[in-house]
Amino acid sequence: MTDAAVDPDKLKLYSYQLFTKLEGAVTAGMIHLGDQLGLYAAMKRAGRPLSTTELAAETDTIERWVREWAFNQAAARMIEAHPDGTFSLSPEAAIVLADHEHPAFGMGMFHRLPQTMKALEHVRDSFRTGVGHDYDSHGPEGAVGIERSFEPWNRAFLVPVVLPALDGVLPKLDAGAQVADVGCGAGSAVLLMAGTYPNSTFTGYDISQYALDRARTKLDASGLPNAAFHDPRHQGLPEDASLDLVCTFDCIHDMAHPQQVIEAIHASLKPDGTWLLVDIKALDTFEENARKNPMASLMYGISVLSCMSSALSEPGGLGLGTLGLSENRAREMAEAAGFTRFRRLDVDHSVNAFYEVRP
Ligand SMILES: C[S@@+](CC[C@H](N)C(=O)[O-])C[C@H]1O[C@@H](n2cnc3c(N)ncnc32)[C@H](O)[C@@H]1O
Repeated sequence: MTDAAVDPDKLKLYSYQLFTKLEGAVTAGMIHLGDQLGLYAAMKRAGRPLSTTELAAETDTIERWVREWAFNQAAARMIEAHPDGTFSLSPEAAIVLADHEHPAFGMGMFHRLPQTMKALEHVRDSFRTGVGHDYDSHGPEGAVGIERSFEPWNRAFLVPVVLPALDGVLPKLDAGAQVADVGCGAGSAVLLMAGTYPNSTFTGYDISQYALDRARTKLDASGLPNAAFHDPRHQGLPEDASLDLVCTFDCIHDMAHPQQVIEAIHASLKPDGTWLLVDIKALDTFEENARKNPMASLMYGISVLSCMSSALSEPGGLGLGTLGLSENRAREMAEAAGFTRFRRLDVDHSVNAFYEVRP
């Protein structure tokens, strides 16, 4: 290509677009710091604009660093700057940045940002070897980040909205059901359900030792007698059609051998049992995902660094990745495992789709 073919305006625009990506990445790092240093929490607690001197005093940090951070955050419109040199959170920002009880709390993915980006060091080799890395490659804080990503929404909606949407499951849970959560992560959903349904028994399975350690620590602290956590490589799902409900939250697309896991879920369920499949709202093709999902580039990138890498971390891994389990794909895989009923639930979630799958 000669220089004559290059439109100077388009060149500027392209460079601008390129650097908006770097701006997003760097600001994401500053958001991580705002969360980890308690800067957002202090701003929310204050409930009024704070000077950077006040914010530094509140967070036991040094004003000059806080001031530069605040300038980044205000320039990026994450926080509000006032003419008197103070800074504040809008009511919406206070929820997304600092209210970990709210379903819209958004700091989970930012919590694990350093671990996610550190994966750049090892996935470079994966492009040549083909072999990815499981969730434990992100260290213990990776498991905490996942927990903080999903727990607030689950706490608000799993028991009051999602479980009642399943046909006939609530009476079983009240009476005493056998339930598994496969790919349970740090165990939030298991502990939430076990606390709500004391007559039922809940078992979480995960291959991440960091997630299992955290889940078991929280279980000990809870004192709940009706929950347990296992690595399925040591103690797998029962094979005797004894379970009433199996849940998989945001994990089938991360698994190296999802078809085998779906078959194991089928074998574990009673004939009238239920598989609650929750996974990313993916569409069938790249074109559809790119056109209809404003977060598609984020998700394909997270896939390389985390989801697809996990799904290729064992020999022969299927490598579905973040946007790899569309409704059609999920239905095909379920049918191939012997499931005969597949229904999408009417549950509103920003990134996830919910399915009731039955033998
Ligand atoms: C995105 S996290 C979701 C964790 C949890 N369900 C939640 O909602 O917080 C995906 C989880 O799947 C787990 N995982 C991947 N492959 C697995 C397998 N074959 N069996 C069990 N868990 C697996 C990972 O270790 C990770 O904890």
